[in-house]
Amino acid sequence: MITVSNVSLRYGDRKLFEDVNIKFTPGNCYGLIGANGAGKSTFLKILSGEIEAQTGNVSMGPDERLAVLKQDHFEYEEHEVLNTVIMGHSRLYKVMQEKDAIYMKADFTDEDGMRAAELEGEFAELNGWEAESEAAILLKGLGITEELHTKKMADLTGSEKVKVLLAQALFGKPDVLLLDEPTNHLDLAAIQWLEDFLINFENTVIVVSHDRHFLNKVCTHIADLDFSKIQIYVGNYDFWYESSQLATKMAQDQNRKKKKRLKNYKHLFNDSVQMLQNQSKQLLVKSYLIKFPLMILNLHRENILM
Ligand SMILES: Nc1ncnc2c1ncn2[C@@H]1O[C@H](COP(=O)(O)OP(=O)(O)OP(=O)(O)O)[C@@H](O)[C@H]1O
Ligand SMILES: [Mg+2]
Repeated sequence: MITVSNVSLRYGDRKLFEDVNIKFTPGNCYGLIGANGAGKSTFLKILSGEIEAQTGNVSMGPDERLAVLKQDHFEYEEHEVLNTVIMGHSRLYKVMQEKDAIYMKADFTDEDGMRAAELEGEFAELNGWEAESEAAILLKGLGITEELHTKKMADLTGSEKVKVLLAQALFGKPDVLLLDEPTNHLDLAAIQWLEDFLINFENTVIVVSHDRHFLNKVCTHIADLDFSKIQIYVGNYDFWYESSQLATKMAQDQNRKKKKRLKNYKHLFNDSVQMLQNQSKQLLVKSYLIKFPLMILNLHRENILM
């Protein structure tokens, strides 16, 4: 579970997020949608801790691990493909490296032996014995054949690198998985494999994609970023789209009705004003009709008196 509390962020005059409060819960796949430049990628960076929000905070459960699809395709050029995937689980990778460094030592001390035993324990707890086979299965699933697994990232084509980085994000069953445009540069077979993987994934996924078909396949929820707020809706993209169209239509109908009612009120008001004005005119005339003879009478009286 990942919890976002009172998160706000602005770049200069541009307010991207204002007091965003959401909980992303396990077992759900959230499609984060919004207009171009609305702040989807920035929001994922806030969730991963790459960017700090100006207010609020993001928290996860104790011992939970978050994985992100890396956007820099050249970050691992000097590393072997299989290792690059395992590096997705940074703690496991560190344990493996420290363990290997100890075993490589020529002068292996008692202290080294104790440290190695500790590391072996943690390695087993982190499912380290399965790491290489799991990494290989992910790579194969995405179409990276076995002969590429021991090559350096620098030797791979652009689209192969993207697949390895994707396998890296998926590796080790992270508690929270953040994917920004994961289907970019993927062939159809890899997209279908990813769809199946995400449908069967048991933890929390938050994915940004412009691929509507993909969102429909994998999302259980839609997180709609609009006017600096994020609203969560249950259902896939089409369900969200249909319901938001319906909501807009209903709001427009209500607006139209309101306008019509307002127009009717205006007519009624104008008629009433007209009527009152007419009445008051009549009353004025009436009062003159009453007053005028009296005035004349008074004048006469005055004349008579004179
Ligand atoms: N470091 C930064 N400094 C200033 N402005 C930034 C910075 N990073 C992003 N922006 C701006 O913030 C806005 C949101 O960017 P972001 O990349 O998060 O949008 P997005 O929703 O992912 O867009 P797209 O759909 O095109 O991928 C954009 O207007 C962008 O120019
Ligand atoms: Mg983006």
